[in-house]
Amino acid sequence: MWKPADRIRFRAQPGPWPTREEAAQARLFQSIPLGPTLLNECTWVPAMVPWRATETGFVTDDVLAWYRRFAEGQPGAIVVEATGVSDVASGPLLRICDDRFLEGLKTLVDTVREASHGRTRLFIQLIDFLSIRRRPAREKYFRRFLKITPEHRVRLDQVLAPEASVREILMGLTLEELATVLTARELDDLNVGFRERVTDTHAAHIADLPRVLPQIFARAARRAELAGFDGVELHYAHAYTMASFLSALNTRLDGYGGARAQRVLLPLEVYQSVRSAVGGKFAVGCRFLTDDCIAGGSNIDDAIYFAIEFARAGMDFLSLSRGGKFEDAKQPREGEAAYPYTGPSGYECMPQYLSDKFGPFGRNIEPSARIRAAVRAEGFATPIVVAGGIHGFQQAEQILATGRADIIGFARQALADPDWFTKVREGCGAAVRVCEYTNYCEGLDQKHKQVTCQLWDREARDDAGVNLSRDGRRRLVAPNWDRE
Ligand SMILES: Cc1cc2nc3c(=O)[nH]c(=O)nc-3n(C[C@H](O)[C@H](O)[C@H](O)COP(=O)(O)O)c2cc1C
Ligand code: SF4
Repeated sequence: MWKPADRIRFRAQPGPWPTREEAAQARLFQSIPLGPTLLNECTWVPAMVPWRATETGFVTDDVLAWYRRFAEGQPGAIVVEATGVSDVASGPLLRICDDRFLEGLKTLVDTVREASHGRTRLFIQLIDFLSIRRRPAREKYFRRFLKITPEHRVRLDQVLAPEASVREILMGLTLEELATVLTARELDDLNVGFRERVTDTHAAHIADLPRVLPQIFARAARRAELAGFDGVELHYAHAYTMASFLSALNTRLDGYGGARAQRVLLPLEVYQSVRSAVGGKFAVGCRFLTDDCIAGGSNIDDAIYFAIEFARAGMDFLSLSRGGKFEDAKQPREGEAAYPYTGPSGYECMPQYLSDKFGPFGRNIEPSARIRAAVRAEGFATPIVVAGGIHGFQQAEQILATGRADIIGFARQALADPDWFTKVREGCGAAVRVCEYTNYCEGLDQKHKQVTCQLWDREARDDAGVNLSRDGRRRLVAPNWDRE
């Protein structure tokens, strides 16, 4: 993972924990209405992909065990990992693009209801993504993938040469020389691998996205409702299709790119289509970015504009993340695909303990506060969910007390200790396993390995009923809280 140049080592400092009585009075543990539903407390486990579905996107026993473990801590809400709305191969990521996935998803809902004694509301994150290929070997790229154009021939002064010899000449050029012959996009395809963009409107299926996506998302949301979820979170964040429509890098000329009002159009149309496909008791919100954190991308002013539009449209919650883009991702090795959380914007999304002077805890808090204030100033009460480095009770309580957000997201902290919520609520905060923000878990995610936490995955591996990772080295869920 990328690290800032001026690395300062930070340690998570959760501060004092409340007694049971103090916790009972705390804002964090009061209920909060969220559209048609009610969270029992202002705590939220944001979406985290654990790489446990089948290769064809079905719920497995390991998926159930993962969510059961979070539900045992009884947070206000859990958002199930990014789940594909389109029927495309995507490895062990959940899918919701067809009725064949319903049964597994119903079991997942039942599992969370039972494990949380009905205290935790369950949402599912709906994602669409475009295709991405692995970085090609140089030879393959020049011999097979690159389409030789008249422009290449002119730049190489090889107008009449047979195509095979043009390819051979290109093979022999240095990267600097190639930069004068290939387009920026072709260079990118060579250096990091081909990746579709929402601006590739020369491709019919990309041009068609605004026509097809609203219905695709709507059908997925309806399935989520049938499966028994309390609502959906439309994934408008990070490196994926909908976030790319919102991004200032979206220069589409068909009315869905360019100015903010056009970039937000498809996300609003998707939302309207989803809303009209589901009943009044089903919550619909979205997750989007306070800042793309890349050159030329959307910034906080764009995010404020989008937030107001989403609130005006009637969304039930706005969950805020930041960064996580492909544009500044690390160059992958040949044969591997680029990963959106490996550059500076990825760092903003999941900040690590080695940080710059702003530190890893709360980089998203001030932007969230600005967004919330702007939404409130327009007269909307839409709850704002913030996440990013939050691990302490006081830190969370202060965010709420100062009106910077309405609901607190704990992603890695909940992975480090799914019982955080119960422990703090019961006055046993001292027993919390505090996340160290090492991003060991994120490293596993990058390699598409089953995600675990280094604070517990080697513990009591031989105990009865403990499921281990495919390599047999790590337990897959956190040990139970031993209250003794
Ligand atoms: C292993 C892992 C998987 C993640 N998967 C998703 C995801 O599916 N969807 C999403 O919006 N964010 C995802 N995230 C980002 C988190 O939801 C969260 O925004 C981020 O970790 C920052 O919050 P934290 O500091 O509380 O961990 C993931 C994070 C981790 C560590
Ligand atoms: S591996 Fe565990 S301690 Fe490290 S960042 Fe992930 S959740 Fe936190």
